[in-house]
This record gives sequence, C-alpha cells and structure tokens, in this order.
Amino acid sequence: MKNEMSLTLLCVPSNVAVARIAVATFAASLGFSVSEIEEIKVAVSEAVSNSVLHAYPHGEGEVTVRATTEDSEPHGGELVVEVRDTGAGIPDIAKAKEPGYSTIPEHMGLGLSFMESFMDSLLVESAPGKGTTVRMVKRPCRQ
Ligand SMILES: Nc1ncnc2c1ncn2[C@@H]1O[C@H](COP(=O)(O)OP(=O)(O)OP(=O)(O)O)[C@@H](O)[C@H]1O
Ligand SMILES: [Mg+2]
Repeated sequence: MKNEMSLTLLCVPSNVAVARIAVATFAASLGFSVSEIEEIKVAVSEAVSNSVLHAYPHGEGEVTVRATTEDSEPHGGELVVEVRDTGAGIPDIAKAKEPGYSTIPEHMGLGLSFMESFMDSLLVESAPGKGTTVRMVKRPCRQ
C-alpha cells in the first residue's frame, strides 16, 4: 500500500508522544509485529526528542515528521520515517552517533544508538546552523 503522512509540530516535550503515536498508527497496517511497532515508537521518540532537546536551545522551532510507504517493489511495504528540524545542526555526526556521546551532561547519549539498532537503517544529515534530518527505514520481519 502506498501512503504518506506529514506532521509539523512545535518542539515541545509533549509533542514527542504525538509523533510517536501518529507514526505507530500510520505503520499499523504494514504488517509489523507488536514488538516491531514498539521499536518504531522508541526510534521516533528518540529522533523527535533530539529536535526538542538539542535543535533550538535559544528559542522556539518546529520539527516535521514524515512517514511514507510504497506499494511496489523494491521498497513495497517498508516504512520510511524522516524527522527534520531547521535548528542548530550537528557539527560531527560520527561522534554524535557514538554510544554514550552527549553534549548535555545528564543525558546518556544513546538516542541515535537506539534508532540505529531498532530500525533497519539510519541516515543522519546535518549542517551546523541549518538543521538536522534523520531518515530511518524498517521493513516488517514477517514479509
Ligand atoms: N536534532 C538535533 N539537533 C542538534 N543536535 C543533535 C540533534 N540530534 C542529536 N544531536 C546531537 O547528538 C548528540 C547525541 O544524540 P543522542 O540522541 O545519541 O544522545 P542525547 O540526546 O545527548 O542523549 P539521550 O538521547 O540518551 O537522551 C546530542 O547530545 C546532540 O549534541
Ligand atoms: Mg537523544
């Protein structure tokens, strides 16, 4: 089934749950197991939390969550989720992806690691001062 969803949210903590539930509902018809849906929820939560926490340290900003699925091969049935902000950006993406690396002292620095392990692929594009886009793909195991 081909489908598309786009949701633009203000970067406030309560909208993490809005994004998580929206993507989980969008993905529900794609044949994911309950535990795969839980993994998608964690990955989306971590990506949107990063925009909320890190993208706009000096003011308000938005995050756009886009989910798509195709109906024909080679990408038929897979879920693509893009989380995009136009905030601070990441100066060193490889470093940011290292487990345990965080620019906020009390944080564990595991969000990007969770996204990487719970989804089939993770692509981070970012430019300082311009923003960050995280693109994640997952295909149901049973298919
Ligand atoms: N959207 C973003 N905008 C700006 N910086 C980001 C963004 N996403 C991640 N980063 C940077 O990458 C680092 C690592 O992100 P990651 O999600 O792995 O850990 P964290 O958010 O610091 O901690 P945790 O996710 O465990 O609460 C962050 O500390 C931050 O410096
Ligand atoms: Mg994080």
